Amino acid sequence: MDNVATAEHTDFEENTIAHTSDMGHSTATVSRDVRKTVGDIEAENPRMICRGVNVHYGDKHAIKDVSVDLGKNEVLAMIGPSGCGKSTFLRCLNRMNDTIDDCHVTGSISIDEQDIYDKSMDVVPLRAQVGMVFQKPNPFPKSIYDNIAYGPRIHGLVEDKEELDHLVEGSLRKAGLWAEVSDRLAQPGTGLSGGQQQRLCIARTIAVSPEVILMDEPCSALDPIATAKVEELIDELRENYTIAIVTHSMQQAARVSQRTAYFHLGDLIEVGSTEQIFNMPRHQLTEDYITGRFG
Ligand SMILES: Nc1ncnc2c1ncn2[C@@H]1O[C@H](COP(=O)(O)OP(=O)(O)O)[C@@H](O)[C@H]1O
Ligand SMILES: [Mg+2]
Repeated sequence: MDNVATAEHTDFEENTIAHTSDMGHSTATVSRDVRKTVGDIEAENPRMICRGVNVHYGDKHAIKDVSVDLGKNEVLAMIGPSGCGKSTFLRCLNRMNDTIDDCHVTGSISIDEQDIYDKSMDVVPLRAQVGMVFQKPNPFPKSIYDNIAYGPRIHGLVEDKEELDHLVEGSLRKAGLWAEVSDRLAQPGTGLSGGQQQRLCIARTIAVSPEVILMDEPCSALDPIATAKVEELIDELRENYTIAIVTHSMQQAARVSQRTAYFHLGDLIEVGSTEQIFNMPRHQLTEDYITGRFG
């Protein structure tokens, strides 16, 4: 009898440490074996619509029949254990996977009712319309000014130097960087701090007038102060852009997003308002992840 009591006591303690929020009682209603997406995949005001998206790398089935909308003026956070397909799915949204040999995408993805995988789609303007910010800040080996001016020049967005100056300043302002760099625009972008470089990359993305901005763990190489600045910026950018952000930080997802999508081994398990996903997950796998039982 004593032994049993001890075993139970230990179990209880482990449970409370693992998920204090629910005191060991699961609130999720959908069992672990269900792979059909739980929750509302549709956004009220969709900017991008993805339906039945599958991605293979050779034989590897990396994204499995994923359908979800990206809503206007909304930040969608994509979370899930490492290797679950977050980056792969994000790259589908501006056809960045085209550059990977052996990568095969099927299903449909549209922006403003135009199929981005249609043969007639030119990927160069598409990647301006759906811009991307990467994990590691990657400024061009050029001046701060030219980092921003490069895109507008090649896309022919400006008529003259005055217009270009204006666009460079406006983009840097929107990225919250102008005050820090206005007196050294001719200096190399690579000389900025990591956080400034990431905001420079965001300014570069903004400069070509995107509608959607994709961000793949944009703060994972930044310190907490630089992270806070980028998070603040994401919240401001939402007013004018649709944003999808991959993050391994659940705190970050909770801070910056309005909707959250939880991926697991290539499946989109659950999508819903960020508040609902973190407070009342409906799928057992989502609950496992957010309470720290997985990944
Ligand atoms: N270029 C690639 N070639 C082959 N397999 C890949 C490639 N990129 C990713 N994968 C595989 O696809 C799966 C999803 O990867 P990824 O999208 O990078 O996941 P996440 O971003 O969630 O960590 C993983 O199993 C990964 O090994
Ligand atoms: Mg990734």
